[in-house]
Parts: sequence; structure tokens; C-alpha cells
Amino acid sequence: MVVENGLDGWLRYAALPDEIRHKHRPYSSIVALENAETSPVYTAAKELQDGLDRILGHKVDITFTLSNTANPAIVVGTLHAFSTAGGSIDKIPELKEDGFWLSTKGDAVQILGQNERGALYGAFEFLMMLAQGNFSPVAYASNPSAPIRWVNEWDNMDGSIERGYAGPSIFFHNGKILDDLSRAAQYARLLSSIRINGVVVNNVNANPILLKPANLQGLRRIADIMRPWGIRIGISLYFDSPRDLGGLPTSDPLDPAVVEWWKDITDQVYRHVPDLIGYLIKANSEGQPGPLTYNRTLADAANMFARALKPHGDGLVMYRAFVYNHHLDESEWKNDRANAAVEYFKDLDAEFDDNVVVQIKFGPIDFQVREPPSPLLAHLRKTKAVIEFQVCQEYMGQQSHAVYMAPLWKTILDFDLRVDGKSSLVRDIVSGERFGWTRSGYASVVNVGNDPTWLGHHLAMSNLYAYGRLTWDPLADPATMVEDWTRLTFGLDKTVVDTITKISMESWPAYENYSGNLGIQTLCDIIYTHFGPSPGSQDGNGWGQWTRANAHAIGMDRTVATGTGNSGQYPPEVAAVFENIETTPDELLLWFHHVPYTHRLKSGKTVIQHFYDAHYAGAATAQTFPTQWAALKGLIDDDRYNHVAFRLAYQAGHSIVWRDAVNGFYKTKSSIADEANRVGNHPWRIEAEDMELDGYQVVAVTPVETASGGKAIITTSQSHPGIAKTTLKYPSGTYDIAVNYYDHLGGRSKFELFLNNQTIGRWTGDLEDKLGHDFSKLLDGHSATRITFPGVQVGKGDVLKVVGQPDGTERAPIDYVSILPQGIVD
Ligand code: GCU
Repeated sequence: MVVENGLDGWLRYAALPDEIRHKHRPYSSIVALENAETSPVYTAAKELQDGLDRILGHKVDITFTLSNTANPAIVVGTLHAFSTAGGSIDKIPELKEDGFWLSTKGDAVQILGQNERGALYGAFEFLMMLAQGNFSPVAYASNPSAPIRWVNEWDNMDGSIERGYAGPSIFFHNGKILDDLSRAAQYARLLSSIRINGVVVNNVNANPILLKPANLQGLRRIADIMRPWGIRIGISLYFDSPRDLGGLPTSDPLDPAVVEWWKDITDQVYRHVPDLIGYLIKANSEGQPGPLTYNRTLADAANMFARALKPHGDGLVMYRAFVYNHHLDESEWKNDRANAAVEYFKDLDAEFDDNVVVQIKFGPIDFQVREPPSPLLAHLRKTKAVIEFQVCQEYMGQQSHAVYMAPLWKTILDFDLRVDGKSSLVRDIVSGERFGWTRSGYASVVNVGNDPTWLGHHLAMSNLYAYGRLTWDPLADPATMVEDWTRLTFGLDKTVVDTITKISMESWPAYENYSGNLGIQTLCDIIYTHFGPSPGSQDGNGWGQWTRANAHAIGMDRTVATGTGNSGQYPPEVAAVFENIETTPDELLLWFHHVPYTHRLKSGKTVIQHFYDAHYAGAATAQTFPTQWAALKGLIDDDRYNHVAFRLAYQAGHSIVWRDAVNGFYKTKSSIADEANRVGNHPWRIEAEDMELDGYQVVAVTPVETASGGKAIITTSQSHPGIAKTTLKYPSGTYDIAVNYYDHLGGRSKFELFLNNQTIGRWTGDLEDKLGHDFSKLLDGHSATRITFPGVQVGKGDVLKVVGQPDGTERAPIDYVSILPQGIVD
């Protein structure tokens, strides 16, 4: 029995059913046109050998000479090696860097890359077709949309991962590179199969100790392990390293001693990693030092690094455009963080050396649930750009919610910025086509950890898979990608494929509905962990993720006429659309306009009613996820079935926390009631604070909207259990009983639910162990959660009792209990 722990991701190469297998003829051999074990061509041959064995049960030998070919064989190598060995390449269309030719027509299978990496990509393409039971004869060339297809890992030297939700680093531990890099090699295999060709291994908030000699030695090991997979590594640098590590009095990029220091470090780095992809720089951003600290321009800094890299090959400086002031004054109406990137970079377009690329987050703020594309993408002509996405779901449920983000990314890639009045799709800008750039493309923050699931949720891996495929072909269809991914990850069963595709395609719209809609951003707690709801946290601080919600109106006025002028940063045709409230699409209304809650949308609804309805609709969709998933029991392995079932049930519960917190907050703020009278009106709920309490006390919860009725109960002591009791007055019948409680750091409380002294269920507040994300220490929107016991027979007059056993500082906190008739979610 194969252990299905997720480690192989979409490269499980599960055995095809016998009736499909026997339709496939065995190959006589795999001819690898390169025999060095470190070569991606050799890797491809080994991968083919392994895949054929696992998928088809065919044992095939690897040979190294074309003339040895007995038909039908698989030939894998570069075009050059193939023609040198006498193969004919006349009919093969032109291939770009990393491109490949795959032909399964005729006797032999030809997998020929423009380079060795391309050959490996072709081998994966072929294997992933076989693994999906697709044996159709094909012959085509496949080329990447962009040369840069990279990922960024925010791994810290101590082994923790910033915004990582799946355990510790696969690269670092205790200030050093791990001895055992086997997970790094497995990661390289996954990345290679989706045609990622570069990994920046350490956090953008970089630690200078990475540059110490022992760690450079370690970087060499990471690079060596990844190279056979066609993957090159890069590193993030700490700007003040000359001072911090080098002991220099300054890190001024124009100071000759600083320039020399970086040159010397760069020489050392290249001695260990001769094919480094370059340096990623986060400077003058969120407290990081940078050139502005020394009164130099951003270009001065980028060029200093670029010149240190230049003698060593094609290494690039990836200079992040994420430069902004996080102490912005909200009382100034025209202040706007969204303006920062263009303001900082627009006049520097001609200033950067040719081995600098500017790395731009997809939207002007920070990976929100919806943003327009960054206007900076329309300003750089001479300077090349890389667009930055985030596979890790920092603002998107932190892998405790299933959210398939390819549809979101497509809204950005398909957006036409109309630069100079001409078609300027974001995907054509980043591919380099629009402005004639030779090196540009994609980066994404991924943050895999050493959990076997890589990202902490089996379903989250579709985001990594889709990201890779989009970098190769930004026209790829999100639904088709998730179907392919599902067949490879969970098997070919139609119910499995249809169900996972449906949940995935519904997930981002649902998350947007219950988190933050109409372009208001993800209304999570932006001061703390960016996970649960806290709409009030957006305003009143310098971070600039403002909503400007007051008693009457909401939204950022980003117009030129009366606001921050941000709409004017877009080229004229796009600016005109966003400047005008009539032409701004509803989904970005509050991004660009400050409007009364009573403003009518194109749908005819008011803004506030849309908020209420959308939050109800989003949470209602999330309620269907566990039930949709239940159809897969027995159709996939139990381990992954249970893992996902648990998380989808968590998501369904947490979506209600989101719904009620956001709706409650805006109802209080606006004093406008929900037309459907749902908000704040919960006929099926019994507040814990209204129960008969013994050993429990009532506490106020902050923010108030993250508790039903603003209050919860905690045990009066850290050691003795508390009891909350109530007599049920509902008509006798079958109900689902939901308990909303808080599960925070500091202990693992135990709970038991009774009906007339009979146990209905027991559970432990141990989500911090089960869900891999950063929990809070408090009763709030992060820790608020729900557990449901379905189909309980309840009689009128029955006594319901919850017994909570505190543990440490977690004092068995309870918010409310819902007694839900079939089909009702309250
Ligand atoms: C976000 C994120 C930070 C990260 C930053 C970045 O603000 O919360 O953890 O460092 O982005 O992209 O640099």
C-alpha cells in the first residue's frame, strides 16, 4: 500500500488501472543523450524509468547511445545532442530557452530540449500525460512565456519561516544550512516538473549570517542538490551587511569600501555557487535599511549589486518595488500607500543597469483577496520587471482555508493596462513581449515547510502547481489546471476530479465574499497574524491598508479629482475607467472610491446590503465544502481524505466567524440594518454568557465583533473545570449542535458536550497542533472556531451542558451554542 502523505505532490505516478495499462506497449529502452549524473538529461532518464515502472509497470533500461535504439524507444536529450548523434531535427519548430519538443508519434518517443532543462521538462510532460491515462499520439513544441520562472522562500536562518504554515524550513536550522537536504531535493523535483527554474532560498527580511563562510559552503550543497533538476538558486541580501557583518562604518552604496565589500562577498558566493541566479533585495521597506537611509537612490543600490554580479555571468539583481512608508498619516486624505511604488520608481526607469529587474507585487498593496494590477507595471519600459505572486496564503486563509488562487492571478495577468493606448496585457508585459525585454517573468512567495504536505493543506498544492503552469503559459485555464492536478494528485475517478475542481473553483469567490468584497481588501487583522477577521485593524495606523470606514461612508478615494490620485497612475484609458465611479467595476469600487454605505452598485444593491449578502453567500458556499468532500470517502485514500475533511470543516466554521464579525462590525459602524434581518439576529443561538454558569465567568472579547454578543466565557481558574448549562426550548426533533469556542495558544483545553447527562461529543482545543498556522494568544477572530455534531435528537426541555477543562492560559473559552434544524446555518 502506497503511503499517501502528500510528499510526492502531483508526481505520485500512481499505477494506472490494469485495463488502461495493458493498452500501452512497453518501450525497449530509454536513450539518454547525456550520461553525467548531475545533468538534467540524466535526471530525466531516471525519472522516466521510475515513472514508467510506477505508472505502467514497465521496467525499462537506460542506455546512452542513439545507435543502440531498438524500437520503440524513448530518446531524451538536447536538440544539439540529438542532431550530433545523427538524429534529424528538420521538422522540429524553433525552441526558446528551456523549451522542448515532444513527439510520441511513430516508433520512438522523442523528448528533445532546447537545453538540458528543456529535456527534463519534456520528460515530465510525457510522464504527466501517462499518469493521467492519456496515451494519445502527440507531436508539438512547447516554449515558455517568460525566461524568469522563480519562487521565493521566506525561510529564516533559525529554521522558522515568515508566513510559513507547514512546519520548519527545509533549508536552514539553527543559523546553518541543514545537513540533510533530502527535502530540498524533493522540492526541486516538484518545482522542475512545473518548469520553475530558480529558487531564492532565504527570507527577503534577510539575515547577514547567510554570508558567513560555513553558510556559503552550505549554499553550495543546496545548489548542487538542485542543479540536476534544472534549478538554480539565488539569495536575499540584508542591505546593511557591510556594517553588520563586515564591520564597516557604513553601508552607503556609493562608498568605495562598501562597493569593494560586496564585490568580495559576491566573488566568494560565486566560488561556491557559480550559476547563482542573483540577489533579491528588500530595502527601505517595513523597517529594512536601504539606500534611502544613506541619501542614495534605489538605483544607486541596485546598480552596486548589479556591478558586483556582472563579472560572474548572467546573475540578476531582483530589486523589490515593495518600498513604502509604514508610518503613513491617515489624517491626510491624499496619503496613499498604493502610490508608493510608482512614486519611488517611475523616474528611475532609465537609471538601472541591464542586469537589474524590478520585482513588483501583483497589486499596489500586498497580496490582498482582490487588487487591481500594480500601476508600476505600466511605467517601466527600459527597466525589466518580474511580477510577484504569493502561493502561500498569507491573506487568504493561511492554508487552513482552501482557496485556489489561479482565478485571482488570471484577473491580473489578463488585465489590459493600455500603455500608450495599445494592448498591454500584464502577461505580455511580464513575458517581455510588450517592451522587448529579454529577461523578465515571474516570482512567487511559496514558503513550503517540512510537513509532508509541503504547504499544510493537501488542496493548497494546486496553487503551486497552477503557479508554475501559468509562468509557462499564462493562457492556461484555471479549471483545466486544477483538473489535471487532481488527476495526478488524487486519481482519475470522475467524481474525485469533478468534486475537487468544483470546490476549488468556488473557493476564491467564496473567500472574497466572506473576507472582504468590493475591493475593500482582506479584512483580516493586519496588525497581528493576518488570519482571522478584524475589520477595524485596517485603519488608525500607519500601514496604509486603510478602508476609511466611518459612520456614513467607506472606501479609499483614489481618484485624481478628489482623492489620492492613484487612479491617475494608470495609463489614460485605464485611469479614466477607475476615476469614474460609474465605470469602476463593482469588485474594485471601494478600492478606488469612498462612497456612502447607501451607494447603489450596478447590481442595484446598496454597498452595505451587498456586504451583508456577500458574507452570507460566501459562508453558505463554505458550508457546502465538507458535504461535497464527503462524496470522496472511499474514492481516495483515508489519510488525505481525513486531512482535507478536517480542514474543510474548520473552514466552514471559521467562515461563519468571518461572516458575523465583518457584518457585525459594519452594522454597528453604519447603523443600517440588514434588509433580510440576519445580522445580529440569531434565533438558533444560545449565548454562553446567558447560560447557567458554574466555574465559568463572562469576559468581553476584543475586537467585540469576534464574539457573538461581544462576550464569551472562560473558566474562573486555570485548573478547575467550568460548567455551562441551559434548558432547550426548541421543538423536539433532529438538530445539528454547533459549539463556537476559542482555541488559542497557551494550552489545550478539553471540552465535553452533554445532552441530559449523555455525552454528545468530546474535543480538545489543539488546533495549534493540527493547523500549521500562527495562532493568536487571545480570544479573537483568529482563535474563534466552531465544532459541529450533526444529527442529534433533541427534546424540548432537554438540558444541554458543556464542561470545559482549562489548560494553562487557555481557559476553555466558549462563545455560544447553536441548535440548528436541518439545512439552517446560524
Ligand atoms: C508582507 C508580509 C511580510 C513580508 C512582506 C514582504 O507585508 O506580511 O511578512 O515581509 O510582505 O513582502 O516583504
